[in-house]
Amino acid sequence: MTKGIFPIEKIKNLKTPCYYYDAEVLDKTLYALTTAANKYGFLPHYAVKANANEKVLKRIAKTGVGADCVSGGEVLAAVAAGFAPEKIVFAGVGKTDWEIEASLDANIFCFNAESVPEIEVINELAGKKGKKANIELRVNPNVDAHTHAKITTGLNENKFGINLENLQDTIKFVQSLPNVNFIGLHFHIGSQITDNSTFIPLCEAINKLQKELKEAGIKVDNINVGGGLGIDYQDPNTNTIPDFEGYMKTISEHLELLPGQKLHCEPGRSVVGQCGTLLTKVTYVKKGTVKQFAIVDAGMTDLIRPALYDAYHKIENITSDKAEETYDVVGPICESSDVFLKDNKMNGTQRGDILAIRSAGAYGEIMASRYNLRQLPGAVMSDEL
Ligand code: LLP
Repeated sequence: MTKGIFPIEKIKNLKTPCYYYDAEVLDKTLYALTTAANKYGFLPHYAVKANANEKVLKRIAKTGVGADCVSGGEVLAAVAAGFAPEKIVFAGVGKTDWEIEASLDANIFCFNAESVPEIEVINELAGKKGKKANIELRVNPNVDAHTHAKITTGLNENKFGINLENLQDTIKFVQSLPNVNFIGLHFHIGSQITDNSTFIPLCEAINKLQKELKEAGIKVDNINVGGGLGIDYQDPNTNTIPDFEGYMKTISEHLELLPGQKLHCEPGRSVVGQCGTLLTKVTYVKKGTVKQFAIVDAGMTDLIRPALYDAYHKIENITSDKAEETYDVVGPICESSDVFLKDNKMNGTQRGDILAIRSAGAYGEIMASRYNLRQLPGAVMSDEL
């Protein structure tokens, strides 16, 4: 089995569980993202929800990409990390007053609004501050992302976005208000999309919509296609850098932008997924009648994806050279779903070995909880070791 490359001597004394972020992988990923974006004219906004670790955020901000936020906390963290406010977008179905006010104070680029009552509140709060807020409307394109049911978002019966039938009326409503500007449309069909052709129906839906809006005399300056590009969880060593080039090529080939329109996207997982590994120590090896269990010091509180979505994360024993055996890798939490991986083949394992739970940079550390009164996992960037 190919193992990832880890500086064992440096990491073996870390307190586990601990997220290890490989700065080189992150930088290479960012280079691939920005190179493709420049080539195809995309304006990327990193989806902060995937990982808001301060060091990770700062590294991403340095490249000059924007940020996609879904809470006031994320807007503040993005600004603090150095993202340019004029490249920050703020989405979410339930923005509260303080979150809107903080975003107005920060002079963010725009609010991706999802309902009429929300637009009314943004208009009112902007008015009180003597400001005019930019609004993109999030549209539900009714496109199936063919991904896990819990992370698909573009279908009609979803809580997100404005349905196509109400769109023109909603745009006219925004245009009738004094303290908001209608500046564009926002879409997002789902996450962990590994087949780029899945984005073609989205492009086609946008093209159709653009024709209708043009006929109605409505001008749209910005198109934001959301996030969704997936990563290879099975083989992070071979496919470390996601195919931003292929993703953007597909979209530029199928999306008919009108003259002067700007194209935005919001990648999250693809930016940070592969640079992160959850390092965990084996506390006990327990032999059952048929199976053997590697009981580790990380649990679903540190990485909830396997328990919540049945997600696969490759697990390697990085401190053993023994012959492979089969283990269920489980955590210590009092929940039967606290299992990282069943029947995993890895090098012969003993108490004290370090396991690397791979591709955990996205929706890992940020989704950690203190259930069972656990401590939150640690986190290090490789270049600070
Ligand atoms: N834009 C919007 C409006 C979104 O809702 C999302 C993700 C993104 C961008 C970023 O999508 P990405 O490029 O990361 O696919 N916790 C789940 C994933 C939830 C995704 C939520 N929305 C997981 O661990 O798989």
